[in-house]
Amino acid sequence: MRFLVVWGSFLGFISFASSTILQNGQVRITNYPNTVIDASAYQFQSFSPNASELSYKGRWDSKYLSWWSAPGLKFGFTGQQVAITFGPLTSDKTLIAYRIDGQDWQLTNITTSATHLLVSPSTPGINLTNPINPSTFELRVTNWAYGVQIASVQLSKGEKLVKIPNFSRTIEVIGDSLSSGDFATLEGLSSYAYGLAAGLGNTEYSITAYPGICAFDKECWGNPRGMFHQWWYTSDVSWRATQIYNTTPEIWDFTKQQPADLVFINLGTNDANAHNNVTSAGYVEQYTKLVEGVHTVWPKAQIVLISLWNGFYASGNSYAQSGAWGNEIHSIYTHFNDPSYLSNSTSYSPFPSTNYSSPFSSPSPSPSKPAEPFVHYFNTTGILQHNDIGPQWHPTDVGHVKLASHLIEFVRIKFGWELEATGPEVFHQTEYWNDEDSY
Ligand SMILES: *[C@@H]1O[C@H](CO)[C@@H](O)[C@H](O)[C@H]1NC(C)=O
Ligand SMILES: *[C@@H]1O[C@H](CO)[C@@H](O)[C@H](O)[C@H]1NC(C)=O
Ligand SMILES: *[C@@H]1O[C@H](CO)[C@@H](O)[C@H](O)[C@H]1NC(C)=O
Ligand SMILES: *[C@@H]1O[C@H](CO)[C@@H](O)[C@H](O)[C@H]1NC(C)=O
Ligand SMILES: *[C@@H]1O[C@H](CO)[C@@H](O)[C@H](O)[C@H]1NC(C)=O
Ligand SMILES: *[C@@H]1O[C@H](CO)[C@@H](O)[C@H](O)[C@H]1NC(C)=O
Ligand SMILES: *[C@@H]1O[C@H](CO)[C@@H](O)[C@H](O)[C@H]1NC(C)=O
Ligand SMILES: *[C@@H]1O[C@H](CO)[C@@H](O)[C@H](O)[C@H]1NC(C)=O
Repeated sequence: MRFLVVWGSFLGFISFASSTILQNGQVRITNYPNTVIDASAYQFQSFSPNASELSYKGRWDSKYLSWWSAPGLKFGFTGQQVAITFGPLTSDKTLIAYRIDGQDWQLTNITTSATHLLVSPSTPGINLTNPINPSTFELRVTNWAYGVQIASVQLSKGEKLVKIPNFSRTIEVIGDSLSSGDFATLEGLSSYAYGLAAGLGNTEYSITAYPGICAFDKECWGNPRGMFHQWWYTSDVSWRATQIYNTTPEIWDFTKQQPADLVFINLGTNDANAHNNVTSAGYVEQYTKLVEGVHTVWPKAQIVLISLWNGFYASGNSYAQSGAWGNEIHSIYTHFNDPSYLSNSTSYSPFPSTNYSSPFSSPSPSPSKPAEPFVHYFNTTGILQHNDIGPQWHPTDVGHVKLASHLIEFVRIKFGWELEATGPEVFHQTEYWNDEDSY
């Protein structure tokens, strides 16, 4: 990335001089190291993917295959070596981010059915005094359409895996391309959704988001189902999921994750596109039922509806925000805060269809109507400007950082969550500045 800035009139003299802002003095590096090894040359101790010390974050299926945006794997380990063997369902070349403890993210592309050495004696930080003892290893898949399958985890002979406690706070983000980091430089790891949860710190997170998906249950941009339906399933709406599961995906077992404390919903930008033929009434009905479903699964969760900026357009000699479903989303918010809703004890079925078999062991959770309001509205107007949107209609990295920052402050003010990320990086490769010290 190379920025050209012409200072000219700003400095008050007429000049054609320009100064190049280099990113740390160089162009951003993207040739990630190849971490594939020949496992037979090592003396490893192997652990199966169902080892109880392995904590899967986000949605992984019964084959230990990852889905949706930024799914992760976390565990503690002793020794100085971690290798992971990836299974045959791994999408070849999938870019993962991984790190130990509070070190910066590292990146590598995963090869199908190969063993990757991800931690070794040359890993930065491995010899440093470790306040987190033993070391913690974490990986996250950066792209939504690709997934990795964990076949086994290897440590040095005699070393052991350690179960890392969950953070007590949990966030779920339900969304489309905007929440999955589509067109941001590191995709899921550059998204506002990741930045919100990781930026708050000490927070578990799952990002059930997929580009192009509608809230309404219909085909949108090639995705066979809408979130109203798919949120209840382990796999997403990708071509990959259709190849593996066709029309019978695994039902998501919500007991595999901690109940969410906060749920953010950013859905409707695809429904709003005339191409997808979603009606206002249909959008409101299914979005409302999705909120009821989330409330049934996690009765204590506070649910935040994010308003849609839906792009910007040139207006006269300036710019304006398009917006979408402004009245609709606000009406859903007022519906859930209406005293007649809050005092209505009639039960309803939150499930997406009569065909849906509840993943909950009997009895299914009863959809209890709350006495207290649990639905909130987050107004995005004024956060993004026209140049925070890239040429492909999605937030730039800076746009994502702005959204994440405002959401973090909203969570602090509204729900009293303190900011507990106090050092280790959240957004990777955002450290660029102007190296020029004289003009
Ligand atoms: C893991 O799976 C194997 C067989 O697939 C089984 O024998 C073992 O008990 C399982 N371990 C755990 C911790 O569930
Ligand atoms: C690694 O993944 C990135 C992101 O998908 C991709 O741009 C790059 O070409 C991949 N590199 C290799 C060597 O496969
Ligand atoms: C850690 O220590 C070992 C042994 O002294 C050394 O070979 C290795 O390079 C060190 N690693 C780092 C990242 O400094
Ligand atoms: C973290 O939470 C998940 C979901 O509740 C659970 O399966 C896992 O065992 C928890 N991990 C620990 C270390 O308690
Ligand atoms: C939208 O409706 C039109 C007219 O009924 C139809 O031709 C078109 O296929 C529909 N598009 C989608 C994406 O459903
Ligand atoms: C009470 O809830 C039921 C089930 O959701 C609904 O059908 C009914 O219209 C509601 N009544 C009022 C007065 O809102
Ligand atoms: C229920 O499943 C049947 C058979 O797969 C299908 O034809 C029908 O459309 C489904 N109904 C709903 C409401 O999804
Ligand atoms: C959202 O914020 C904008 C700008 O402050 C304001 O004009 C608009 O009324 C707000 N929308 C709602 C529903 O509060």
